[in-house]
Formats: sequence, structure tokens, C-alpha cells
Amino acid sequence: MDKTGETKVFVVDKNVEDFQSCSQIVDAARLIQAGEVVAFPTETVYGLGANALSDEAVEKIYKAKGRPGDNPLIVHIGEMAQLSMVAREVPGPAQQLIEAFWPGPLTLVLPKTDQVASLVTAGLDTVGVRMPDNPVALALIRAAGVPIAAPSANRSGRPSPTTAEHVRVDLEGRIAAILDGGSTGVGVESTVLDLTVQPPMILRPGGVTREQLQEVIGEVAVDPAFEAGKETPRSPGMKYTHYAPQGEMWLVAGEEERVRAKMAAMLEQARQSGLSTGVLGTAESVRFWREHPSVDVALACGSRHDLHSVARELYGCLRQFDDLGIQYIVAEAFPRTGMGMAVMNRLEKAAGGRFLSV
Ligand code: TXA
Ligand code: MG
Repeated sequence: MDKTGETKVFVVDKNVEDFQSCSQIVDAARLIQAGEVVAFPTETVYGLGANALSDEAVEKIYKAKGRPGDNPLIVHIGEMAQLSMVAREVPGPAQQLIEAFWPGPLTLVLPKTDQVASLVTAGLDTVGVRMPDNPVALALIRAAGVPIAAPSANRSGRPSPTTAEHVRVDLEGRIAAILDGGSTGVGVESTVLDLTVQPPMILRPGGVTREQLQEVIGEVAVDPAFEAGKETPRSPGMKYTHYAPQGEMWLVAGEEERVRAKMAAMLEQARQSGLSTGVLGTAESVRFWREHPSVDVALACGSRHDLHSVARELYGCLRQFDDLGIQYIVAEAFPRTGMGMAVMNRLEKAAGGRFLSV
């Protein structure tokens, strides 16, 4: 961070022919090399990056986010040659997954090398690593010449940012720069897969689905913590309440008509207690809720027929409820298959366990 505490914003021209020589990306890479922290776009959410080989640089990430030090960061690589700088061993199934999904929203937990800064892995002997599928991110990492450690670029406890503006609201004045490459595409974070256990285990559902992983390597387990909602999660980050909007949020699952009736009753009651009310719906239901007398704000979060669109818009919608000061939010639940597993995981966190099945 420079002495004035000012956060520079570098806007990348999307029509640029060669990202590698784009001056904004080159400037951002210089800051990374100088040990500073820079927010940058990936295909999932914006990341808050620093040189993964330097404890001094990585410490600034934790400081800027207000993130607890026992929650390890994901290391991002820009080319395959950087993998051996980070991972000591790449077993067969990991190689198959890399071929199938990289660059892409899949983080592999592998045995780490000594080169990785110890603050990145919070003392673990494993490291989470991925190659992001975003031309700006790839060009930045290649120009920096080092792997980049990056958590999502939000303040701890806020939804992950899917635009540069979200990052600015959370972190302006706390980081050296924001590299603005437009909106991210996937909208929820990468899938975190632990390859040091047998069968490999999903520690966090995300942009690559369990079904997709199983097509490539066969059996894939899921951390029982978020299926049963009980045991202490193995991925250190999963135990923190993340993504929570400021209002009290409820998640309602069941057959459509019953869900609507239940939600309507809840909203009416909240309204009577003097709370401002919001509905997190979809393109299919938003008209019904906009016309409903007990609803102040109804948002369409994608389409029920395309859970990728729900994932893409989810965090932006949660932020909007906060911006509008909504105090009571009810959200429709989704099936837990495919992208639904990641979407429901994020919704459940946002709702802090307030889940109703009707
Ligand atoms: O899509 C993403 O993954 C985004 C973008 C920026 O790449 N990054 C992201 O990072 O979501 P973060 O720090 O917010 O989440 C990292 C998750 C946490 O749940 C953390 O506990 C887990 O990955 N993790 C990282 N390294 C791990 C390790 N060695 N073992 C187990 N879990 C690990
Ligand atoms: Mg995060």
C-alpha cells in the first residue's frame, strides 16, 4: 500500500488484443512483485492477491480482509510450470482433473512445497491450488512471475465480490490496487477438492460439480459437515459464518404452492413487526412477489431452470438487500444436484441455519 492509503483502480480494456502487454495488468503485476496486495477478477469471484512465496506480502491480505489466520488461502497459478513451485506431489487423479478442468473453478488440495509461504496454508502441510479461467487473472500471474495467493476480495463476513465495485466498497483504502476486468462469470467460488484422502473429498462445493468430478475420477466424497450440518468442517474456512446479509434471512424448501403460502405468511408477520421485507426469488416468481402487499423488495436471482444463472447473481442480490437496508429476507430453496449443491451451500450460510421445509 502506498503512503497515502489510496487504492488505485486499473480498468482493463476488454478489447485489448494481448492481455500480456496490457499496461494496467503490467502495473498491477509490478505491485504484486513489490509485495503489495491487488484485487483481480477470476472466473468465479474477485480475488485479493499477493505473492504466495512471501509471508510478508501474504500477511497484508489477512490484515486487509480482517480474516482469521487459521483459514488458509488458495494459490493461483498462471501456467503449468508454476505447479511444482507449489505442490510437492501431483497424484494420478489430480492430473486427470487438471486436464479436464483447468483453467477453471476447481481447487485441488495437495501436499505443499517449502516454497509456499507458511501464512498461505495457515500451518497445514497441504496447499489449495488452482489455475483460474480468466484472461486478466492469467496474464497478471504470468506477468508477476510468481504464484498468487488469493482469498475472495471481500471484507470477512461479507458476500464474495463479483464486480470491481463490490471490492471497492469493501476494501478501498485498505489495498494497493483493484484490477477491474468487469463482472465475473461463475458467481460462486471454486470447488475445493482434497486429494490427500481416499476417496477424494469435496471440502467446499463450487463451480465444478460433484457429478462432473465423478465422470473423470470415479467416486468423490462430500464433507459430511455440510450435508448433515453437524461435524466440524475439514476445510477451515467452512466453519466461519460467511456471506451473511445484514438482515435476518430464512430459506424455505418444498412444493411450490406450499412454499409460496409459507413465505407469504412469514413476510406478513415480519411486516407487522415493523421490519422491511425482501424476497430472494427467481425470474419465474419475481412478479408474484413484486405484487405482494407484504413485500418491499423482490429480487430475481437468475432462473430456476438454470442454476448457473442463480449462482452468477446470488452474491450481487445479497449485497443489494444490504444496500437497501432490508431487515427480513426470505429465499426460495433449490434442488441440491449439479450447481444446486454450491448454490444451496451459500444460501444456507447466508441464512445461518434458518431453514424451513414445508
Ligand atoms: O473461487 C475461488 O476459490 C476464489 C477465487 C478468488 O479464486 N477464492 C476463494 O478463496 O474463495 P477463499 O480464501 O475465500 O476460500 C478458500 C477456501 C476456504 O474454505 C479454505 O478453508 C479452503 O479453501 N482451503 C484453502 N487451502 C486449504 C487446504 N490446504 N486445506 C483445506 N482447505 C483449504
Ligand atoms: Mg471467501
